[in-house]
Amino acid sequence: MRSKGVFVLVLLGALTAYHVYSPIPNNIEERWKLMLTDSFFKSLSQLAELSEQVGLLDFWRVMMFITFAERVVPVSDERVQVADEVFDGVEVIVYQPTQQEETGELRRAIIYLHGGGWCLGSSRMGPYDLLARHMVTDLNAVIVSVEIGTGTGASKLQKDPQQHVQLKAQALIYPVLQALDLNTPSYQQNQYMPILPRTLMVRFWSEYFTSDKSFFRAMMANRHNNHESAALLKFVNWSSYLPDSYRQTYNYSAPPVVTGKSPVHSIGPHHLLADPRASPLLVPDTTLRLLPKAYVLTCEYDVLRDDGLMYVTRLRNVGVDVTHEHYPSGFHGALMLTMWPTDFDIGHRMMDNYVTWLKQNL
Ligand SMILES: *[C@@H]1O[C@H](CO)[C@@H](O)[C@H](O)[C@H]1NC(C)=O
Ligand SMILES: *[C@@H]1O[C@H](CO)[C@@H](O)[C@H](O)[C@H]1NC(C)=O
Repeated sequence: MRSKGVFVLVLLGALTAYHVYSPIPNNIEERWKLMLTDSFFKSLSQLAELSEQVGLLDFWRVMMFITFAERVVPVSDERVQVADEVFDGVEVIVYQPTQQEETGELRRAIIYLHGGGWCLGSSRMGPYDLLARHMVTDLNAVIVSVEIGTGTGASKLQKDPQQHVQLKAQALIYPVLQALDLNTPSYQQNQYMPILPRTLMVRFWSEYFTSDKSFFRAMMANRHNNHESAALLKFVNWSSYLPDSYRQTYNYSAPPVVTGKSPVHSIGPHHLLADPRASPLLVPDTTLRLLPKAYVLTCEYDVLRDDGLMYVTRLRNVGVDVTHEHYPSGFHGALMLTMWPTDFDIGHRMMDNYVTWLKQNL
């Protein structure tokens, strides 16, 4: 077992060295560090792919290595009180300011849902723990950090009839908001960008719906829409919702509608595809209008950039107050890269700006 582990580590090291020279845009800061970080991510996913093909371990089990490598045990300290809780069957970590004296006043609260494509990552990772503590101390707020890795639907919150809490604000950090068009200009421009290449994002999406590989292949080709989802393509039409500068040289053509005996039909995840709990952009304006004020962070070098940009446009069109922060040298996942050895200045800037917005708007 041990020699197998050593073998895997050596292979990972060799692959990492092999990937170091991947091209990274010039205006990205700390390029060398990002190249190294990304070559590690690339190697891990290649190793995961290989391991799945030879039947050793499944892709996601290997990818979980990152989650374990950054695992921490969140503990209380002099400023922050931490407790593990289970809310309605969902594991959460509750962070709150260490009680000085009881004032009887209600505190602000944040429900924090971490990223990781709905299957990787954990609230018990160093960077999320760091962010939660930062929010507690800067905002004097209670943070409920939700454990998503265990297969609980994050979107359960939305439109749950039992849910009576009126949310005051929504803050989205390079969000993923739709699965109908996986060839927006940002998917095209950034298909090989660090941390989240298009293949990985498409893999996250397809696995979220089904483990059938033919659906993954259909999504890779952007030929996964059927009649039901095609009726909603108007909500993610980037030729109407992206600012001119982002459309640039890209020519819009609607994703084709696949009919007949295609994988999309034989396994039937198409009704999930059209489900707004998976793709929040797919709701009509009458529903969007009811949403609270928003903060949306987008990065130029991110396949998900246009999901965020379209959401900003659509919210503004119906009069929702939106603060949009775009990072022209940003890349997906930067907010998680705040701890040694993968700490990036841009990650810290994102964290500070995000917390500042919360301070002023929550
Ligand atoms: C997308 O918008 C353009 C106009 O910007 C329009 O010509 C086209 O028909 C729309 N397509 C879909 C699928 O909504
Ligand atoms: C978009 O269309 C124009 C005009 O037909 C063409 O010159 C250009 O090459 C197209 N761009 C892309 C990215 O396909």
